Amino acid sequence: MKPTRLVEFMQKMDPNSVAVFAGAHDIRRNADTDFEFRQETDFYYLTRLNEPDCVAVLSPGHPEHKYVLFVRPRIREEEIWTGIRTGVEGAVRDHGADAAFDISNLADLLPGYMQNVDKLYYRLGNDARFDQTVIATIKHVREKIRGGVYGPTTIIDPGTIVHEMRMRKNEDDLNCLRRAAQISAEGHVAAMRHCQPGMYEYELEAIVEYVFRKQGATGVGYPSIVGSGFNTTILHYNTNNDLIKDGDMVLIDAGAEYKVFSGDITRTFPANGKFSRAQRAIYEAVLAANKEVIRMVKPGVSFMALHEKAVEVVTDELLKLGLLSGSRAENIEKATYARFFMHRTGHWLGMDVHDVGRYKLHDDWRKIEPGMVFTVEPGIYIAEGTEGVSEDYFNIGVRIEDDVVVTESGSEVITTGVPKEAAEIEELMKQTLTI
Ligand code: GLY
Ligand code: MN
Ligand code: MN
Repeated sequence: MKPTRLVEFMQKMDPNSVAVFAGAHDIRRNADTDFEFRQETDFYYLTRLNEPDCVAVLSPGHPEHKYVLFVRPRIREEEIWTGIRTGVEGAVRDHGADAAFDISNLADLLPGYMQNVDKLYYRLGNDARFDQTVIATIKHVREKIRGGVYGPTTIIDPGTIVHEMRMRKNEDDLNCLRRAAQISAEGHVAAMRHCQPGMYEYELEAIVEYVFRKQGATGVGYPSIVGSGFNTTILHYNTNNDLIKDGDMVLIDAGAEYKVFSGDITRTFPANGKFSRAQRAIYEAVLAANKEVIRMVKPGVSFMALHEKAVEVVTDELLKLGLLSGSRAENIEKATYARFFMHRTGHWLGMDVHDVGRYKLHDDWRKIEPGMVFTVEPGIYIAEGTEGVSEDYFNIGVRIEDDVVVTESGSEVITTGVPKEAAEIEELMKQTLTI
């Protein structure tokens, strides 16, 4: 049987067209060692085939070969080293392809599928080497014009179809995301319960990622961020090498990848288990923004309106704390809050942590719809030496990030497995664990 998403995609293609999707390749890490393989996400979403060096060709107008896979052949001497492959027969038998070929035949066979169709769906810019293969194939087909053959005249980004599909999660997708979020939350809880001043950031990283694997995640959806002290103010810090000191804040931004869907959670907590006055003040300011934004989530709300709400709340809170002065309106107008809150409030979430899908349609920010999933992650970051700020606030970076599903009537927060109220965090941190 053909994969459901692939069938849906083909129904949305122009009848006189062909689509080509290339899977990912093994990438060399060093010497003869590769990075862990991760399939190209659109390819996986459509085919569910999780092997390197595959190409899928979709030809809705073809009399027989509507879905063709090019795959690595089964070679016993190679399988001994790297595992059993799907192979040409398996691609037809187990993956619903109408025909399958050894990937080494691609250059010979691809022109046949690309001729006499008007449109080619292919996403240029993803894979420079494969772009060259596609361009060479178009050229090859064009050169056969005197034989009555023509090549595609329009190249369309298949993202216009497949990314819109990926944005609207079905129940299976949501269940994977719920599990990814639950596992992510358990990792954060474990980190809070193990954290002690005197540990290194990488020890917490190891605890979080141990829980992810223990609970059946394939690993992380993105490199874990575990920062303490000054490092909490570096947005994508992930060296995770410093000693965690008494009095530090600790910021962990980590998400498990489960069945190719990613969680994305940030929690921030005091290393010693008790918020100082200044830490708590900043924490409550960010928490207020996180909660206000989540309260707004329901179908029809503009994605930009959510960010604007976070900006308003953060600005109000910074004014209350005396970290900004003047009126809300003038601070927003001059974007003074951006010294402390310098990123957006969220992003789409799915098989990619920063998931695909347009944020604007024509000139308007998109209105959220049931089945869309995104993060809500306001923050305030005050690095040491920030001008005009009392030293009490130095090296306090706080981000609180939850994952939210838009439902028919509002929202479902799927990251409630880890607390975010300051008092709950303090309580949890008293339940110390050690390894
Ligand atoms: N973990 C990256 C982000 O929160 O966007
Ligand atoms: Mn995020
Ligand atoms: Mn994150």
